[in-house]
Amino acid sequence: MSLPALSNDHHCQPINLFEYEQLAKKHLSQMAFDYYSSGAGDEITLRDNRTAFERIKLRPRILVDVSDRYLSTSILGQPLQLPLLIAPMAFQCLAHPDGEVATALAATSAGVGMVLSTMSTKSMEEVATVNHKQKSLQWFQLYIHKDRGLTRTLVERADAAGYKALCLTVDAPVLGQRERDQRNAFTLPPGLHLANIASISGLDIPQQQGESGLFTYFAQQLNPAVTWRDLEWLQSISPLPLVIKGILRGDDAVRAVEYGAKAIVVSNHGGRQLDGAIASLDALTEIVAAVDGRVEVLLDGGIRRGTDILKALAIGAKAVMIGRPILWGLAVGGQAGVSHVISLLQNELNVAMALSGCTQLQNVDSGLVTLN
Ligand code: GLV
Repeated sequence: MSLPALSNDHHCQPINLFEYEQLAKKHLSQMAFDYYSSGAGDEITLRDNRTAFERIKLRPRILVDVSDRYLSTSILGQPLQLPLLIAPMAFQCLAHPDGEVATALAATSAGVGMVLSTMSTKSMEEVATVNHKQKSLQWFQLYIHKDRGLTRTLVERADAAGYKALCLTVDAPVLGQRERDQRNAFTLPPGLHLANIASISGLDIPQQQGESGLFTYFAQQLNPAVTWRDLEWLQSISPLPLVIKGILRGDDAVRAVEYGAKAIVVSNHGGRQLDGAIASLDALTEIVAAVDGRVEVLLDGGIRRGTDILKALAIGAKAVMIGRPILWGLAVGGQAGVSHVISLLQNELNVAMALSGCTQLQNVDSGLVTLN
């Protein structure tokens, strides 16, 4: 696959996702880089999401004809060229003026999924229009506001705009304490707004000395009283399938299935919520066993390599979501940068499959990994 040219100097072209982070840092304000990169508290879970992947080892099969390899799959019946969705991430115009639109264009052309955040800086309608021809997988991520009318409007708009599922984030009754954001008094710079919300409600991210404006927004506007019963409410107001994101326990996964979830995302919100929470990869085995094939299981948190995708799939995820590296690509090169990040992962997964004796994702079974 030919890579989009980000620079004429090939020595400057990042060749992996870690290099993208280093380069992105130079393109971002300190406040934006800290917001994207940080985790909660001591960032133990943030780091552990990575080291969990390093702890698990691959057990490659040899002497398999791997001349042809197929990386495609489907999620909720929708085809994907790769077992990859872009995780919901807020405020993408902090990285690039085209923000979520550039991300969506890159996702669509690569045939991967994208989940648009409630907290996007481009409206859900504008982002959906980039997808009208190709009909690739786009979901809307939902935060339930205290204002039920506002929440209902968001849900109805997502359906009308053509999003194919509601991805409800359930690990954020309050926002995690991200000290770098507190130190920076994180807020949106002039000109950026909560594109889905500000125009209909006047709400926006406040500016406040000594506190993250996002933390304050959550405390004031989001509903910490949401329970399982609200899943019934959501399903009563929307025909869209419900995907529950932020599950770390088998018993919660079973409950999500019982309450009608059509897919679940094993996630600790990129280490940004409860510090000390289990790494998402470490939670996967228990959850896959508990769900027992009744719904598709996705995972996010710490994916930086094609081999990480292989490990997550071997343990039982149907696909993974990737977050921060997409923002690094966006910051470095807009749509082309995001495309390049996706293609790096695609190439790495392709090589990892060949070296593991896998020709298609169905061959990626639990025998491929050793769980310590
Ligand atoms: C927003 O959802 C965040 O985690 O920063």
